[in-house]
This record gives sequence, C-alpha cells and structure tokens, in this order.
Amino acid sequence: MKNHSFAFDASGAQNFLDAADWAAIQPEVEAAAALLESRKGPGHEFLGWLDLPDHCDPVELDRVKSAAQRIRETSDVLVVIGIGGSYLGAKAALDFCGHHFYNQIGPNARAKSGGKAPEIYFAGHQLSASYLLDLIDLIGDRDFSVNVISKSGTTTEPAVAFRLFKRLLEQRYGPEGAQKRIYATTDKSRGALKQLATQEGYETFVVPDDVGGRFSVLTPVGLLPIAVAGIDVDALLNGAAAAKAASFAPFADNACMRYAAARNILHRKGKLIELLVGYEPRCHYVAEWWKQLYGESEGKGGKGIFPASVDFTTDLHSMGQYVQDGPRHLFETVLDVKDAGRDIEMQAELEDLDGLNYLTGKKVSYINQQAAEGTRMAHLDGQVPNLRIHLPDMGPHTLGSLFFFFEKACAISGYVLGVNPFDQPGVEAYKKNMFALLGKQ
Ligand code: PA5
Repeated sequence: MKNHSFAFDASGAQNFLDAADWAAIQPEVEAAAALLESRKGPGHEFLGWLDLPDHCDPVELDRVKSAAQRIRETSDVLVVIGIGGSYLGAKAALDFCGHHFYNQIGPNARAKSGGKAPEIYFAGHQLSASYLLDLIDLIGDRDFSVNVISKSGTTTEPAVAFRLFKRLLEQRYGPEGAQKRIYATTDKSRGALKQLATQEGYETFVVPDDVGGRFSVLTPVGLLPIAVAGIDVDALLNGAAAAKAASFAPFADNACMRYAAARNILHRKGKLIELLVGYEPRCHYVAEWWKQLYGESEGKGGKGIFPASVDFTTDLHSMGQYVQDGPRHLFETVLDVKDAGRDIEMQAELEDLDGLNYLTGKKVSYINQQAAEGTRMAHLDGQVPNLRIHLPDMGPHTLGSLFFFFEKACAISGYVLGVNPFDQPGVEAYKKNMFALLGKQ
C-alpha cells in the first residue's frame, strides 16, 4: 500500500474489517476501478482529472508560471476569487505547504527563493459584505491583482466579489491598468466570465470541460494561486503522477482501492459518518477540500457517507467527548504527518512548577504523536474504527500524491456506493430559491 509519498493503513480498523469482509468487497472494488478506467461509467464525460498529473500541457503550465511571476513582481496582495472547487484546492495547498502565518511574515520571507511574494486572500467564497469591506480596508492603498476563478462563469458569490474588486482596480489603475491586473480562470468558451474576459482582454486560463470543480486543483484553478505562493507546482504534479502510477497496483497493494473498500465496508456496518482527522493545523483546509470532494461526489439519491472533519488535539477538547462516547456511527481517517518541517525540544525548568520536567529533551512533535496514539487507542476502545494515511512530510510532492489518491479513491468509492460521483444536482436547489427571492429574470 506504499508509494513514494504515503501509505494507507487500515490496521486500526481490523476489529471491524475481517478477512471475509475484504474478500467479499474486493471484486466490487475491482469492478468499480475497471469501470472508471474504461471511461464508460456514469459521469465518464468528467474524467479529464485522471490525465492531469502526467499529461499537463507544458505551454499552459509555462503560462501559469509566467503569470505567477508577474503577479509576484507587481503586487503586494493577490485576491483569489472563487468558491467550492474553485477555491478549496488552492487554499488547501497554500496552507498545507506554506508557513502558518504566510500573510504576516513579510514579502521576502514569503518569496522563499529571492524576490518578493504577495499576501494572498480569498474572496467570493461566501456573501458577507463585512468580509469584503474588511478585505478592502486591509489592502488599503497597496498594489493588488485579482485571480477570478469560476468554471461555469455564472456563480453568484464570486461574481458579486469580482464586480467589487474590478471596480476598485479600475478606479485605482484605470481600465487598462486594471485589465493587466485581472487573471480569469474559467471555461474555454461559455459563461459570463469568459465573455467579460474576452471583451476586456484579461489574461485567461482554461478549466477543461471534462474536469469538474472539485477535481480541478491540478488545473490552473489551483496551480496559479499555488505558484504565486512560491510552492513548487512541478513537485505537486510529480507527486500526483506517483500516486497515479501506484493506483494501478493489485488490490492488496492498492491504497485507492483499499481506502474505497474500507469505507464502504464500514458504511455497510452502520458507520454513517467519516471524520477526517488532522494533528497539524496546516491540514485543516485539506479536510475542507476533502469534504467537498466526498460530500458532492457521494451524497446523492439518499446515499453517501457524511464527510466531517476535526482538528486534533484542539477538537479533543470540544468534539472529543462525542467521538469517544456518542452514537457509534463514526469512523476516523487520520492524516498522520511524520515530519511537519520544524520542531522544538522541551527544556528543563529549575523549579518544576508546571510538572512538565518529565518531558525534558522530548520534541513537541513527539508529544503530538503520543497524543495521537493515545487518542487512537481510546477511540478504538470506544468502537471508533481508525484508518490512517501516513504522510512523510508536508511538501508539495506529498500533497500532490494525497490529492490524486483522494480523488481516485473517491471515484471508485462512489461507483461501489452506486452513485454517479461526477454530478452535483443538489447544488442547484438553493440557487433556484435564492434567484427567485432576489427577483432574477
Ligand atoms: O463542485 C462543484 O461544481 C461546485 O461546488 C463548484 O465548485 C462551485 O459551485 C463553484 O463553481 P464555479 O467554478 O462554476 O463558479
């Protein structure tokens, strides 16, 4: 179950997954994987993401890198406007691979390898007026650029935010100056944003027709903001390619198939909720991205495992009681990071007033690992099956692997569950009501 970057580990669920369970589900999972690869299953017109890791257009990738460099040179701030699949992948990558306080550490520290890099803020991922105005205050009179991202080009939240920031850019730099500071990522020919981008002459990046929003992080949707932050997009794509290569292994060694199998077995045994657990705060938005991926892919037709997430150890002090002792309808999938990049050792105090001298010489990462192990044992005692994904580090190669692993496992799992993992009919329901209430013609 290993590839270059991670390993899937179901040993913490062995009391709930016996050999007969694995044997019974194996043919179903293999059939689902084969259906996916045949590109003839439900939603087959949205399988372009399968090719992104190793068939990335080099010309487009160069254009992404050049635009990122231009934004770095000309901007103190980049505002990334998008929602759902046009927001969460970039946010996840920026947090996972970046400094916890990226926006506060200053332009040179942010740039890593010379030059400067802008602060990056997201907008258009809700409809809060006060958020938008606070962001405008924060930008102040500093130079900024905008990357507006919408596959459909018609989504209300980003469109509202973009109208505001476009006007601000035009007031500050004039129409021509604004045009040079707006980068649009959208459909190649359809939608209001595409039309506007063509008319105004914005530099435009394409979201391929055959890649759905939640599978789009390895297109310019994710890659442009990720490159602006100075994260190595080649390493990200290489990591995804490594996970793709590993995803053709036989069932016994196939992380995607085994994760899809484990979650479906557990679901059939009454586990209705999957908690994605991180012990590093930088995992938080990977969990948010994962929730969209699994929630939108599987939650339909009355089916689906409810994807939820917690940040431990923080949430052990809030959600811990429920996980340990509430209804037994949960299982956990833990993102187990071996090396988060930095560490610090506990020092002895002359007077042991806080009683922590027993930890002298121990690293804080070691204390975190013991907290995770203690939690795992307690939750197993409490009948919460524990799946783990071991991650060697928090670099872009590892994250690329993780992105692809979750995407492919999700597609296989969705087919096993009996749904089309690539549509999202339910997302339209609130929009219909909102448009009626707003009087849209
Ligand atoms: O998965 C989806 O399709 C949605 O959640 C979208 O990602 C989200 O609505 C944003 O859509 P768009 O990129 O078209 O603005």
